[in-house]
Amino acid sequence: MSLKLSYTLLSPLYDLVVGPAFRSARRRSLAALPRGGSGAVLLNGIGTGLDLPWLPPGCRCVGLDLTRAMLARCARRATNLEFAAVQGDSLALPFRDASFEHAVLHLILAVVPDAARALAETVRVVRAGGSILVFDKFLRPGQRAPLRRLLNPLAARVATRLDVVFEDLLPKVPGVRVVSDEPAVASSWFRLIRLERL
Ligand SMILES: C[S@@+](CC[C@H](N)C(=O)[O-])C[C@H]1O[C@@H](n2cnc3c(N)ncnc32)[C@H](O)[C@@H]1O
Repeated sequence: MSLKLSYTLLSPLYDLVVGPAFRSARRRSLAALPRGGSGAVLLNGIGTGLDLPWLPPGCRCVGLDLTRAMLARCARRATNLEFAAVQGDSLALPFRDASFEHAVLHLILAVVPDAARALAETVRVVRAGGSILVFDKFLRPGQRAPLRRLLNPLAARVATRLDVVFEDLLPKVPGVRVVSDEPAVASSWFRLIRLERL
């Protein structure tokens, strides 16, 4: 099954399953966006738009996702925002270099088959000095996590990888530095990581 098909099938249930569990982590992550910022924000892998209510009012934002059925659920959440939805691939973003002031990567790096490439693409489209806000589940370097590694081949096909080590991505992606890295949910399996585009 492709990820596009599985997220199409999951789309009616997504908010119910994912919404409440991560509400507070989303709010914490997005609080880093400046109020009254002038540039546009990219929500890369926006899903059903659960981040939209936590963006600064009046924010100009673009939500990109591979799955039309997920994107279709965003519009009703985009009140008080200048919002555009784009169907596309995080691994080959259809935007010019430095098109965005900031970018949000919530629950997408562990989903795509090539997390380093998705991060590099995001870095490419954010201007120097901008923030990239990551919220996702990552293993620590050297962490064994046998159950997660056992389940990973199936989980990666239908919804998300369980074996991504954030520290393995950084050496492959120049032009960015870690500003903060905090535990978020599930005993720090999920982390809030703020990056700055250099
Ligand atoms: C776990 S959901 C996260 C959605 C949202 N960011 C959130 O925090 O709720 C993963 C999303 O990534 C999308 N997706 C999967 N592969 C993608 C790709 N290659 N490019 C863009 N979006 C992709 C799926 O359609 C789905 O909407």
